[in-house]
Amino acid sequence: MKICVIPGDGIGTEIVEQALRVLEAVGDRFGRKFDTVEARIGGIAIDTDGVPLPEETVEKCKASDAVLLGAVGGPKWDTIDPAIRPEKGLLGIRKALGLFANVRPATLFPQLAHSCYLRPDIVAGGLDVMVVRELTGGIYFGEPREDGESNGERYGFNTMVYYEHEIRRIARVAFEAARKRSGRVCSVDKANVLDVSRVWREIVIDEHQSGYSDVELTHLYVDNAAMQLVRDPSQFDVIVTGNLFGDILSDEAAAITGSIGMLPSASLGEGNPGLYEPIHGSAPDIAGQDKANPLATILSISMMLRHSFDMTEEADCIDRAVAATLEQGFRTGDIMQGGARLVGCRAMGQAVLDNI
Ligand code: IPM
Ligand code: MG
Repeated sequence: MKICVIPGDGIGTEIVEQALRVLEAVGDRFGRKFDTVEARIGGIAIDTDGVPLPEETVEKCKASDAVLLGAVGGPKWDTIDPAIRPEKGLLGIRKALGLFANVRPATLFPQLAHSCYLRPDIVAGGLDVMVVRELTGGIYFGEPREDGESNGERYGFNTMVYYEHEIRRIARVAFEAARKRSGRVCSVDKANVLDVSRVWREIVIDEHQSGYSDVELTHLYVDNAAMQLVRDPSQFDVIVTGNLFGDILSDEAAAITGSIGMLPSASLGEGNPGLYEPIHGSAPDIAGQDKANPLATILSISMMLRHSFDMTEEADCIDRAVAATLEQGFRTGDIMQGGARLVGCRAMGQAVLDNI
């Protein structure tokens, strides 16, 4: 198996390093060999190559079986020409690899129930939501887009557009995912206002009728969905939605689990390698201080083994090692509680490794 590793910026390097140690340990235990090749993206690529996504990085990804990504961005590049912001690198690689489906599972580890922002009675029913976010379309990529000036006044606009084939394929990913879970899909849109959302809803319903009627399908407007998520999160199984709404709702779901530092994600397409990354950002405020939580990246490795390599046992082994590590009381700052053992990024990685 060949994995393209793209640490990126900020805490990216530290968390990816720990995840790779865990990957190697799993390989040793199960007699698997993983080859890695490193590539650059984001701010570091701007510094060395002048662009956030060098062509070489795209080539290396395409020549690999899966991609592991850390995080991109930081204050250093905040004032740069918007056309080459670090984030453009991330959006660019998603697009270049055709990774239209972003799968973000948000589960509350019982050991971290204290970190949850919601009242205990609200999360008593547990939290196990999978956000299926469309990743290569919608307002993130829609044309035309402009940042301009007219009659002495600044203006800017983007276009939220979805084509039928984009809606159908993401709906299918959600229905398939639901079949392996509790069998329920909630499609989130803003069909009471937006034309693009009316089309979205119509097509999701049509796709449902044309082969997934065993799955329960419901619809919510995005404002209501945001509210329902904190009012009664256990009502959700799979949430399918567009790029922007998915970006927002997945952070909300993550926060409910206690820390955004715990959530992995998989970005999948057809025929290209999947890309696996934590859903959090580059956390420049704690970068280089050995404080970051590597668990989201370690869990992203687990998703990689499961989805790209069909290595269920190996993935289960990582998931169990993470749970055991939490059970033993190891905590990075973001999930710290009284009486637990505060550790840094490296020690957290080591603890998971010991449990492998
Ligand atoms: C995410 C991030 C990215 C996004 C940014 C960094 C471009 O927030 O993966 O959720 O908006 O997709
Ligand atoms: Mg986001």
